[in-house]
Amino acid sequence: MTVELAITGGRIVDQGQSRDADLLISDGVIIGVTEPGSTPSDAGNVIDAAGQLVIPGMIDTHVHTREPGWTHKEDITTCSQAAAAGGVTTIFGMPNLRPPTATVETLREVLDLYDAKSVVDYNHNPAASNPDQIAGMAELGIAAYKIYMVVDTGREYPHPAGTGMHDHGHLLEMFETIAPTGLPFMVHPHDQGIMDLIEQRYWAAGDRSPEAYAKTLAAYDGLIWDTAIGVLLRIAEATGCPLHIVHAQTSRSIEMIRQAKNRGQQVSAEANHWTLFLGSWDDVTTLGPYALSYWVPDHHKEATWEALIDGTIDMANSDHAPHTREEKDVGWTDMWAAHTGTPGIQYQLPLLVDSVGTGRMSIERMVEVTSNAPARIFGLGQKGCFAPGTDADVVLVDPDLEWTITDDDVLSKIGWTPYAGRTLRGKVLRTLIRGEDVYRDGTVVGAPGFGKQARPMTRPESDAR
Ligand code: DOR
Ligand code: ZN
Repeated sequence: MTVELAITGGRIVDQGQSRDADLLISDGVIIGVTEPGSTPSDAGNVIDAAGQLVIPGMIDTHVHTREPGWTHKEDITTCSQAAAAGGVTTIFGMPNLRPPTATVETLREVLDLYDAKSVVDYNHNPAASNPDQIAGMAELGIAAYKIYMVVDTGREYPHPAGTGMHDHGHLLEMFETIAPTGLPFMVHPHDQGIMDLIEQRYWAAGDRSPEAYAKTLAAYDGLIWDTAIGVLLRIAEATGCPLHIVHAQTSRSIEMIRQAKNRGQQVSAEANHWTLFLGSWDDVTTLGPYALSYWVPDHHKEATWEALIDGTIDMANSDHAPHTREEKDVGWTDMWAAHTGTPGIQYQLPLLVDSVGTGRMSIERMVEVTSNAPARIFGLGQKGCFAPGTDADVVLVDPDLEWTITDDDVLSKIGWTPYAGRTLRGKVLRTLIRGEDVYRDGTVVGAPGFGKQARPMTRPESDAR
């Protein structure tokens, strides 16, 4: 078979193994991995990857693109450009849009937008709030459903009507409805009743600071998360519906996930960059609203890292959640009025590569959590590894290059990152999707509209061990 493109001389990391080898590509798919130097001399194009890591592109299944409806924050093109620069080759968008993606019709519209505007491959997780929309959504090739157990108090975003559900009866009905599709149900765990009680105590004391907000979410050492995850695991077990837990980040809930997996339950979980890299109390006091989302005390952060490494947490996702400086700055005096969430799609993979350099995790585990596992769990048999016949979604990384993150380099529309000023070792040099360059030497070269929908090919398998 003709080799159209060969990536030679690099260190290939995939499916638990690393080796010096050449990667051969034709027609946008992998055709083989061969001994270094054995690339046929008539190969069309050759990329010299000496000294570089050659890894499958990151599959980020938790991304807030903000389009349609919130495009002053971000849009599909800017979000997917930031993805390409960060070594992310497939994104799954989230439904907290305007209109919220809660019907077959709105799902079709948003998929058309990605088709016209995305630089990287994509899918979209619609909100599972209407039982009669569930089967029709699956027919459009989605890979998962999403719901938030959050009801925002006093602000219209980021949890708009149509995307939230916290009544346990409604949740049970939704798990029952999704189960026959075989697709995972992604749930943002949260206990609104407990949140309401705790936050009102801070408000009564006149405290609406970022610190009060952080402590509310972390009350009683993670009660808001632990109670919700206990309920979700039990309902998922009862209904046989695959459950995907976003924001796994407390020690007790991680232990519950571990036990559920040991019982053979179909449950997967993700950790997000802000727990792994932005979780200290110092970050809360110095970055305030810019560091929140959520805060958990350090021992939970350690438990999250351990679980990411031992396999209890299956994957790392960015939960890229861009908001403008204005929307953040109100939080210095009233954190409950600020839009919470932290951008990260451009930096999560480099931050993880840096963690490999410091010995925190192995490069093989990093590839598992950023690419192999999300492809397997969400049924993307055509992606997430270098097996012959899979899409040639490839990222070249210089593991030794030191560089400093700055706001100036942010491709996301908001123009800021909570990581500005951090020096990392390890940089994404080049990103290819289906054998084509989308990012190279500091520039996004992929065109809006290049991205294609990544539909699940296989039903999700149990990741239980
Ligand atoms: O803080 C958050 N921000 N939590 C979410 O669940 C959504 C996210 C967003 O979209 O900004
Ligand atoms: Zn999110």
